[in-house]
Amino acid sequence: MNFLYVNFLYKHPIVNHTSTAIHNNTTTNNINKNKTLIQKMKKGNKYGIHRVISPKGVLPQPANKLDNNMDEIYDNEILIDVQTLNIDSASFTQIEEQAGGDKAKIAEIMMDIVEKQGKHRNPVTGSGGMLLGTVEKIGDALVDKIDLKVGDKIATLVSLSLTPLRIDKIKDIRPDVDQVDIDGKAILFESGIYAKIPTDLPENLALSALDVAGAPAQTAKLVKPGDTVLIIGAGGKSGMLCCYEAKKRAGVTGTVIGLTHSEKSTNRLKALEICDYVFAVNATQPVSVLELIEEVTNGEMCDLTINNVNIPDTEMTSILCTKDTGTVYFFSMATNFTKAALGAEGVGSDVTMLVGNGYTKGHAEITLQLLRESEKLRKIFTELYA
Ligand SMILES: NC(=O)c1ccc[n+]([C@@H]2O[C@H](COP(=O)([O-])OP(=O)(O)OC[C@H]3O[C@@H](n4cnc5c(N)ncnc54)[C@H](OP(=O)(O)O)[C@@H]3O)[C@@H](O)[C@H]2O)c1
Repeated sequence: MNFLYVNFLYKHPIVNHTSTAIHNNTTTNNINKNKTLIQKMKKGNKYGIHRVISPKGVLPQPANKLDNNMDEIYDNEILIDVQTLNIDSASFTQIEEQAGGDKAKIAEIMMDIVEKQGKHRNPVTGSGGMLLGTVEKIGDALVDKIDLKVGDKIATLVSLSLTPLRIDKIKDIRPDVDQVDIDGKAILFESGIYAKIPTDLPENLALSALDVAGAPAQTAKLVKPGDTVLIIGAGGKSGMLCCYEAKKRAGVTGTVIGLTHSEKSTNRLKALEICDYVFAVNATQPVSVLELIEEVTNGEMCDLTINNVNIPDTEMTSILCTKDTGTVYFFSMATNFTKAALGAEGVGSDVTMLVGNGYTKGHAEITLQLLRESEKLRKIFTELYA
């Protein structure tokens, strides 16, 4: 019997600990070690593939269903106690329209999305948003390897369209700023990026700005001194940040044209005094906007057009207003890339079109810095979002 035990232990130490529990102290110690082993967190995949339920073999963003069980976390995950969801503007606009503006219906639609998918990916726009919350738990493999500790307040900088999310309760919906306060939990994967909420700016202000951080940071890269830059949706959140950054980069020899929509956003942008021209237009009407921009630029058209609207059907306006040698940066999530590609071909435009990557190096710092350096911008953002 003893002989068998030794032999078995050698080959299958873990299994044998349990099967020989009653024999001696050494074995009892082994059982305790074994318990520690069992309690160790499961090893997760860097990109969160371990959370994909269906279809198998895809990444979390295109997945239809993610595992949003937060009772147990994997060793490379960060568990976040969620305070506020900042729903992507194109997504929130669509949900609000579907709900006919009724808050209870908006809440129902949002709960349904998370119930079905384990994340908040709008089934119509495909877009997500980001969140504000407090670090509740850090996986064993990440402890001391990242600059976060339990209790830190962070904004996730990866889309809600790939973030495992559980909503326990929707507490408040603020349609004017696309923000929803909830009780709930979320998971940030090892590859997920985040920003610590700065202490010198109001939380909701930082959250709003960080949601669109990719736009002004890309603008900084794209605009050269002397450029003519057109910004569509210029009176919105990302639009105002882009206008500010574009003027800074284009300088006195450059021209920044801001296209707004409502009277409210037009007055807001004019009050900022950062654009050389501000016009209220309907960006879904390419011909009238084309004629306007031809007149303003003396037929030269724009070196760069940045599209920041939250509604569909503005691809052709962006393309037609841009020089053949110019660039269109489609930050808008309502962009249809088939329409853009076939539309450009249809009018014989050789324009370069960029997909609005939400991330570019240093985007969070660049964006928060704009709010620190411009008092006017900070004041408007504080009034709107804080
Ligand atoms: N690429 C990414 O990673 C990423 C990340 C975040 C957000 N986004 C997308 O970026 C876009 C802008 O986001 P945001 O938060 O800045 O949105 P926002 O603050 O809601 O601004 C959208 C702007 O579009 C304007 N607009 C609406 N209909 C228009 C029309 N017919 N003609 C001209 N302008 C019109 C609105 O003007 P009025 O207010 O005057 O109506 C508003 O100022 C959204 O599509 C959002 O989904 C992309």
